[in-house]
Amino acid sequence: MPVNNIEDVRKNVKEWKKEGLTVGLVPTMGALHAGHLSLIKKAKETCDRVVVSVFVNPIQFGPAEDYDKYPRTLDADEKLCNSEGVDIVFAPTPAEMYGGGRLSNDTLTYVCPPFFYVNKLCGKTRVGHFDGVCTVVLKLFNIVQPDYAFFGQKDAQQVVIVKKMVKDLNVPVQIIQCPIVREESGLALSSRNKYLSEEGKKDALVLSRILNNIKSCYLKGITDVSALKETAYSFLTDKHDLEYLEILDKNTLEEKDKADDDTIVLIACRVEGVRLIDNVYLGGK
Ligand code: PAF
Repeated sequence: MPVNNIEDVRKNVKEWKKEGLTVGLVPTMGALHAGHLSLIKKAKETCDRVVVSVFVNPIQFGPAEDYDKYPRTLDADEKLCNSEGVDIVFAPTPAEMYGGGRLSNDTLTYVCPPFFYVNKLCGKTRVGHFDGVCTVVLKLFNIVQPDYAFFGQKDAQQVVIVKKMVKDLNVPVQIIQCPIVREESGLALSSRNKYLSEEGKKDALVLSRILNNIKSCYLKGITDVSALKETAYSFLTDKHDLEYLEILDKNTLEEKDKADDDTIVLIACRVEGVRLIDNVYLGGK
């Protein structure tokens, strides 16, 4: 059975720590897929005990976003976690995490990452999103007190921002970033892929195609960022609503004129109204 209660998680973790065991946390919003599974497997390899949190975090969704519609599959998530030997599935209610009251800037202490990191990419259209992410992630770190926490590279901006928060606030946890998991077709796994029709899934391949093409142009010697971006446009049709295509420093998210091996290419595009994101490192890992 999933644990819903913060105190029960704390009790277990306290016992583990007494025994000198290391603890890993995989924070998720559920609807677990093979991408999450890779994080869980890495956590199991790295740590003595593993906690997977399953919490659709209301404060990281904007008013017009898909909080109500977001897939919730707790029974299946729990089964998957059990089969992987996860020690605790922590699935709190919003009231357990935030109290019963109104969730707003007026009633909650938020962690607000620096403007420089949030005023771009997903943060540009998802205003307040990363405040919500950092706030819940820090709360989960305080509840679980993990030695390691596992995040997927697919949410590259999120990982950079969480690392920054951990460094700036001296949180004693090591962040482990795991590679993107893709379908054979190249489509990056995402809980939101469930919203796509079969046709939409094919149209969604444009994201990975654009990224692969930019990477192969880079490997052929093209480093000018504007020229690399230009190559994307021939892939787009009226089925694609491109939100951003950015070529940035992979650690700092700073803009560059010339790409190098520390560069990341990030894309967000709507297909059938579903907002999809993907990215690739030009220098490999
Ligand atoms: O990446 C996610 O699923 C969420 O943003 C996270 C890290 C679980 C916080 O709610």
